[in-house]
Amino acid sequence: MTGFTVAIDGPAAAGKGTLSKAVAAHFGFAHLDTGLLYRAVAAKTLLGVEPIEAAQRLTAQDLDDTDLRTPEVAQAASKVAVIPEVRAALVDFQRAFAARAGGAVLDGRDIGTVICPDAAVKLFVTASAEVRAERRYLELSAKGDPSTRGQVLADVQARDERDMNRAEAPLKPASDAVLIDTSELSIEAAVASAIAAIEARRA
Ligand code: C5P
Repeated sequence: MTGFTVAIDGPAAAGKGTLSKAVAAHFGFAHLDTGLLYRAVAAKTLLGVEPIEAAQRLTAQDLDDTDLRTPEVAQAASKVAVIPEVRAALVDFQRAFAARAGGAVLDGRDIGTVICPDAAVKLFVTASAEVRAERRYLELSAKGDPSTRGQVLADVQARDERDMNRAEAPLKPASDAVLIDTSELSIEAAVASAIAAIEARRA
């Protein structure tokens, strides 16, 4: 199957990563976490590189940096992500990935709306800010991060605010996206509903 693209969008910590990996493994599709692109650009800016230049010179190896998952990098990512030239520099890489023979899952904020508006399947994965913050808090504290619950919630809300209200490619569901609210769903149930939505479009 050539170029079967699954676009998975949604706010921070809604469960997109877990869902995307499970869906990609189930169907044998390649997976790209597009948040990593913005995080990698942000990590360079924290070292003093100018954001547009960082985006234009990004390489695949930059995505392997193990320090991209920190709260500081996440906040910085949502700041560089408002810059139109940064977004523009990352489009071709994402579209080439989406067009892979054998199918691809891309997760992010604007995959169904901007990067792959013709994706075969679009999912919008969401959950309440409190549920998302609690999940992220548990993830971070398991890694030894000292952030408090209150700080993690404030970070999630600040990122939501920036991601939803920016002029360029704001976070919103595509008009033809299937909504999956994971607030009260187990991982297994969320994965099952994503797989069902994809099976329905493949049929
Ligand atoms: O998904 P993740 O939390 O790693 O994304 C980090 C930040 O990168 C997001 O808060 C958002 O500002 C930005 N981003 C984006 N468009 C994408 C993926 C991520 O603007 N497709």
